[in-house]
Amino acid sequence: MNRSYCLLGVNVDHVATLRQARYRAHPLDHGDEVEPDCVAFALACEAAGADGITIHLREDRRHVQDSDVRRAHAQIGTRLNLEMACTAAMVDYALQLKPHSVCLVPEGRHEITTEGGLDVVGQKAKVAEVVAAMTAAGIKTSLFIDPDPAQIENSAEVGAPWVELHTGAYANAYYHEGRLREFAVLRDGAEMAHNLGLTVNAGHGINYTNIREVITLPHLNELNIGHSIISRALFVGVEQAVREMKALMQLMH
Ligand code: PXP
Repeated sequence: MNRSYCLLGVNVDHVATLRQARYRAHPLDHGDEVEPDCVAFALACEAAGADGITIHLREDRRHVQDSDVRRAHAQIGTRLNLEMACTAAMVDYALQLKPHSVCLVPEGRHEITTEGGLDVVGQKAKVAEVVAAMTAAGIKTSLFIDPDPAQIENSAEVGAPWVELHTGAYANAYYHEGRLREFAVLRDGAEMAHNLGLTVNAGHGINYTNIREVITLPHLNELNIGHSIISRALFVGVEQAVREMKALMQLMH
């Protein structure tokens, strides 16, 4: 990566989570007639300088709905990153939609948000097949993985152009003694991924406090942030929440 700054991708799933808390019983394809609309939120993020939007279509459709993805794809002016499970149904869905990129994540029904990284080592052939199908369709694939050397090495071997390093363990350790250790794991992972030719993204649990350290990780192309920006937007509005995060991301770059 030759750019001297890091991009901001905003993950808007939790806006849909809030909507579904009230409108779960509404017809699934309700478009934008019930609030809050995650696509309107995405457009406000773009207006404030977000460089891309991530939307996760879970197999159980618990937050984002198909109509959200269709509207996001039609209206977003930056880049749509479709986060999805590594299943045949989702692969077909992505090949039809043709977003700019897909981010493959593990999916557990009990989770509120994605908890762990994708096990590329354990399902290498399957992941390689999906990456090849996406590449043939002109869609970039990102693999959301723990910053573990074996996962990083296998991600490069399956031909993925991007990885998204899972920053959750670091974020959870932030106020505890494990923070420096988790940061070192991320730093080493970013170096390794870069040396293997992978574009390095990162995300999960990044907020307005830990961003000051996260942004010092080497070779960062993009950070994907959801919960913290959406939470801050409740107090200061969407545009200011995005601008404040962008400003913090410039500090070290
Ligand atoms: N990246 C991925 C792959 C995710 O699943 C999530 C959570 O939905 C995020 C980034 C954003 O995490 P957070 O909401 O904690 O900022």
